[in-house]
Amino acid sequence: MQIIRSTAQMRAAVRVARDRGASVGLVPTMGAFHAGHLSLMRQARGETNLVVVSLFVNPTQFGPNEDLAAYPRDEQRDAGLAAEAGVDILFAPPVDQIYPDGFATTVHVSGITDVLCGATRPGHFDGVATVVAKLFGIVTPDVAYFGQKDAQQVLVVRRMARDLDMPVRIQACPIVREDDGLAMSSRNAYLDATARTRATALRRALVAAETALAAGHTRATEVIAAARAVLDDAGIEPEYLELRSPDDLAPLDEITGTALLAVAARVGAARLIDNTILEVR
Ligand code: PAF
Repeated sequence: MQIIRSTAQMRAAVRVARDRGASVGLVPTMGAFHAGHLSLMRQARGETNLVVVSLFVNPTQFGPNEDLAAYPRDEQRDAGLAAEAGVDILFAPPVDQIYPDGFATTVHVSGITDVLCGATRPGHFDGVATVVAKLFGIVTPDVAYFGQKDAQQVLVVRRMARDLDMPVRIQACPIVREDDGLAMSSRNAYLDATARTRATALRRALVAAETALAAGHTRATEVIAAARAVLDDAGIEPEYLELRSPDDLAPLDEITGTALLAVAARVGAARLIDNTILEVR
């Protein structure tokens, strides 16, 4: 596996691969790899010829009081894991390669960024959309792989790619979980033992909602109450626990087809998110 730090070298490597007819898969990451990241890399390996993983802790998607400085970083470990997963290129640029002096552009996707994480993390999705647009411009992937845990991020990137005619397919990949159901996240590293146990309530809350729906409770108030009871039991006050359309994040009162139930909560030192798709057949 090659490690590339400059955008010029990254472009050159893609050009060489394209010249021999290779398709390009991109897995954008901020590092601190876990099994969720590795599943994206393996899917990219199975579907595309040149697999590029970007490793860039993007400063513009962190708010002023967020965890940019504390965000876990271990490039050597990440490089080893990416190589084992069959990645061809780890693109790990320094900040000035992505945001050179005079950088003055922000990509803003409106509407779907006003709710859920966008409501509590102002500017977050501008940072995400801008860096992903930049990565798409540098790597020119045919397919880009994102985890469904960040369901709103997937929708934002898809909308951006569609609106700006970016010739890339956005592939959402299933949430990967620990044995006890906790969704894999680099931020799980912030959990101490007590918080780690309490954190399992997020997944259990989503399962309670699934069970309520299976018992015929299709109203948002009913499924949300079922999930809320589990969080209450664990002493977790959600930042949000909302039922929304999985297509455009419009709020839903009733589940008639598919619905996204999304939750965010601070547990100990970590802000965690999780979600499930609820479906009435
Ligand atoms: O999901 C992430 O790790 C980041 O938001 C992303 C997509 C790599 C952009 O910095």
